[in-house]
Amino acid sequence: MRSRVEGDREHLDRAFAGKRVLISGGAGFIGSHLARALVARKADVTLVDSLIPEYGGNLFNLHGIEDRVRLNIADVRDEHSMKYLVKSHQVFFNLAGQTSHLDSMSDPYTDLDINCRAQLSMLEACRKENPTIRIVFASTRQIYGKAARLPVDERHPLAPIDVNGINKMAGEWYHVLFSRVYGIPTCALRLTNTYGPGMRVKDARQTFLGVWIRRLVEGEPIEVYGDGEQLRDFTFVDDAVDAFLRAAACDGSAGEVFNLGGDERISLRDLARLAVEVAGQGEIHHVPFPPARKAIDIGDYYADYAHIRETLGWMPHVALREGLTRTLAFYRQHRAHYWA
Ligand SMILES: NC(=O)c1ccc[n+]([C@@H]2O[C@H](COP(=O)([O-])OP(=O)(O)OC[C@H]3O[C@@H](n4cnc5c(N)ncnc54)[C@H](O)[C@@H]3O)[C@@H](O)[C@H]2O)c1
Repeated sequence: MRSRVEGDREHLDRAFAGKRVLISGGAGFIGSHLARALVARKADVTLVDSLIPEYGGNLFNLHGIEDRVRLNIADVRDEHSMKYLVKSHQVFFNLAGQTSHLDSMSDPYTDLDINCRAQLSMLEACRKENPTIRIVFASTRQIYGKAARLPVDERHPLAPIDVNGINKMAGEWYHVLFSRVYGIPTCALRLTNTYGPGMRVKDARQTFLGVWIRRLVEGEPIEVYGDGEQLRDFTFVDDAVDAFLRAAACDGSAGEVFNLGGDERISLRDLARLAVEVAGQGEIHHVPFPPARKAIDIGDYYADYAHIRETLGWMPHVALREGLTRTLAFYRQHRAHYWA
């Protein structure tokens, strides 16, 4: 594996051929896209996913590659299963997570067990059974909390404002610690809002955008909370997958944390307008911010992703309009697999 990828697509394509790769959360939104990309690069792919119904796993996400991956229906909280699974793999993309911010407030211990304790036990399993395994962890911009300055780079203070953010932060730091102290080549990607085909649309547990997509496909109005002035950035899932691949294929990533981002900073109000325009139907209703959401809203956020651009040569390629078009087209065709 080379020290710097610098957009070398050929290197990236070759880096995973024949590699034994494990993906936790592999039946979820991003994990399944990653699995598809790895199968195309001839990797030997094993997925682990609990398929807990309230979470984002969906077997249809694996449509077309189900015969080319191994799927282990197991929970990352099960130390025995994970100990066995990490043993035989060279690369571990660690994406399994409880993703709902509101659920983390109403049921904080489940979030703690999955996003914090299980992360530590998986790393302990790697340390004992397979300390040379490369690990890429799916972290989140939520750990910054409310931005003190914009754009947010990796040196921005971490001050999460919900239980999920605190547990994801701990999960991320365990990964970095195990790299620095034990030399296990881990790194973390701090994802911003990631969207695309296969994203959670049945409810707002992952993001409001998923619900908007579903309602637009149904021809229903979409709701914007408050004035919708909050600025955000978005990453299309193919670009996020590209970042995961680069992070695993590049020696320069060990012990690092990287922001992902998007080039189009947009207010939620303008995003709603764009989504309605792209869908060709639907209307926007402004409604008061639900108090439980307002209490954990991070306000404006957009990332500075210079660190990953300079270290791994990553940058986003799919524009928001294009990404929304592809996402809406996917759900128009496959909605029966995602909501009744
Ligand atoms: N989608 C985003 O915008 C976004 C933003 C920031 C961070 N992330 C992080 O990226 C990762 C993947 O997110 P996603 O958007 O694909 O979500 P997702 O819900 O579609 O995927 C997560 C997967 O993890 C599985 N899972 C959950 N708990 C598990 C457990 N205990 N054992 C085994 N599997 C379990 C779920 O079944 C699901 O398939 C998560 O860790 C999330 O925190 C995502």
